[in-house]
Amino acid sequence: MKAAHLYVLLYVCSTAAALVDAFDPLTATLVIGAGATLGRKIWNYFQESCDSKWIVHNATGLQHDLETKLFGQHIASRIVLKAVSGFVANKNPKKPLVLSLHGWTGTGKNFVSQLIAENIYKEGMDSSFVHVFTAELHFPHSNQIETYKSQLQHWIKGNVTNCAHSMFIFDEMDKMHPGLIDSIKPFLDYYEKLDGVSYQKAIFIFLSNAGGESIIETALNFWRAGRDREEIELKDLETRCALSVFNNKKVSGFWHTSLIDKNLVDFFVPFLPLEYRHVVQCVLAEMEAKDLEPKKSVAEQVAKDLVYSPKSERVFAVKGCKTIGSKLDYYM
Ligand SMILES: *[C@@H]1O[C@H](CO)[C@@H](O)[C@H](O)[C@H]1NC(C)=O
Ligand SMILES: *[C@@H]1O[C@H](CO)[C@@H](O)[C@H](O)[C@H]1NC(C)=O
Repeated sequence: MKAAHLYVLLYVCSTAAALVDAFDPLTATLVIGAGATLGRKIWNYFQESCDSKWIVHNATGLQHDLETKLFGQHIASRIVLKAVSGFVANKNPKKPLVLSLHGWTGTGKNFVSQLIAENIYKEGMDSSFVHVFTAELHFPHSNQIETYKSQLQHWIKGNVTNCAHSMFIFDEMDKMHPGLIDSIKPFLDYYEKLDGVSYQKAIFIFLSNAGGESIIETALNFWRAGRDREEIELKDLETRCALSVFNNKKVSGFWHTSLIDKNLVDFFVPFLPLEYRHVVQCVLAEMEAKDLEPKKSVAEQVAKDLVYSPKSERVFAVKGCKTIGSKLDYYM
């Protein structure tokens, strides 16, 4: 509930209280009663609930946001739109939607999760139906893994019981204990009901850097061959991405589990490393978001001062668009 809403509520209540003083006891009781009912109605009106008033499923909005706010990610943009709009249009999905977002830091994985949330829930990331879990924050101690497992299962069950259209975002999936990933597997599967609860309308989004290196390699090969980045297709990345997620035991997590071999992940979404021109776009968008006058020269300066790799060719921004928000204050 927003502060403004609370003020309305307080105002109504205090007005009711002021009126009460002016009347005899019976009228006062009636006024208080009416006030309480009205108060409750106002409260309910502003309280987020699990219905179409708060869950908007705006596929048009998502398309618009992906096209205008996300830069340099033609593949991710297409997959996410197709996956999400298809899923929300389906009245009887057979399993929850499971997306796995892969790529280097700062390429837009968190941002895309946010865009999805904003176009599904009126309250966006602030919705009480959106749950974000971060390995290092929520599950930091590997010796407490058994506690975390049952806690996480309880949460997910409780959250989905509360609202079938719940969304779960797992950040830093590659740092997540394999046992923990295993413990959420049943929720992702094709079960009609699990212990009386259906998870089929929920959305799970996994974010990780796993596979990032091989995505960069592919993008770099295209760049060196003088080919247009937009020519990169999913099939150029897909097998490599899945395989490196699979095979690289150093990037712990995924392959210990059967998320992949059981096909519980519906879509692997690769995020390409960002080039100078994309960073410029990010900075300009950030200026606009901050109500600053977009200045191309400043945006170019911010982008120029970032670190690029590989060292010799300076093609991709090492941190993508990640830190530009705070950098911008320094340049303006
Ligand atoms: C969906 O998004 C579009 C574009 O952002 C917006 O104009 C429209 O009002 C939204 N519709 C709903 C139902 O929120
Ligand atoms: C839902 O998940 C949150 C964590 O995001 C947890 O704190 C909360 O207790 C859960 N709700 C229920 C009803 O289990």
